[in-house]
Amino acid sequence: MRFEILTIFPQIIEQYSNESILKRGQATGAIKIIAHDFRKFANDKHNKVDDTPYGGGPGMVLKAEPIFNCLKSLGLIKGKLKNKNSKTKIIILDPAGKRFDQKMARRFSKLERLILICGRYEGFDERVYKFVDEKISIGDYVLSGGELPALVVAESVARLVSGVVGNAESLKEETFEGFVEYPQYTRPEDFMGAKVPKVLLSGNHKKIEEWRKKHSCG
Ligand SMILES: C[S@@+](CC[C@H](N)C(=O)[O-])C[C@H]1O[C@@H](n2cnc3c(N)ncnc32)[C@H](O)[C@@H]1O
Repeated sequence: MRFEILTIFPQIIEQYSNESILKRGQATGAIKIIAHDFRKFANDKHNKVDDTPYGGGPGMVLKAEPIFNCLKSLGLIKGKLKNKNSKTKIIILDPAGKRFDQKMARRFSKLERLILICGRYEGFDERVYKFVDEKISIGDYVLSGGELPALVVAESVARLVSGVVGNAESLKEETFEGFVEYPQYTRPEDFMGAKVPKVLLSGNHKKIEEWRKKHSCG
């Protein structure tokens, strides 16, 4: 699966996605994460991506043109319209969007291509929304840019793509896959007087399973 992230800070995306699980997922060829700097698609000589809002008000607004040009260069625009493709989705990160959750992550993991557009400043010129499929928020708070939200979405989706997480079995027992995961323990057995529940040391798989069921909810 291919993740393409439109941003004016491509280094943020590259640095994070070249570590740990996303790095491994790319090494195995299961996923590819590409950051596109949409500043390169600005038409003026200063590569300006933002401007003051019509009607006045504080802050700067991201211009529609650089984002449109970038999407067009990626073959996602045909003429003046979005190029329809059921295996590709164009997402815009927006605190006023639909709340992202594990169910959405699962839905996106079936795609071939996920495009994530990161805002900055006061957000986007309203006309950008015409070219996107969904507006997504990662929670009810405001960050300074869409890069962290894009990485949150990309990582949670990537974990569900076959070949990204080494032990696929562990995915079946994760929180939100139908239930909230049971408490986990590892060595030592006694940590400052706090002991691992005896049943987990018993080797009795049936009893362990019962205990885990009892201590998870969903
Ligand atoms: C400072 S915010 C813009 C906030 C905007 N003026 C508002 O009040 O909704 C800049 C960008 O960060 C991203 N962003 C901030 N918080 C977010 C969140 N909770 N979920 C998704 N994206 C977010 C969006 O891409 C947004 O365009």
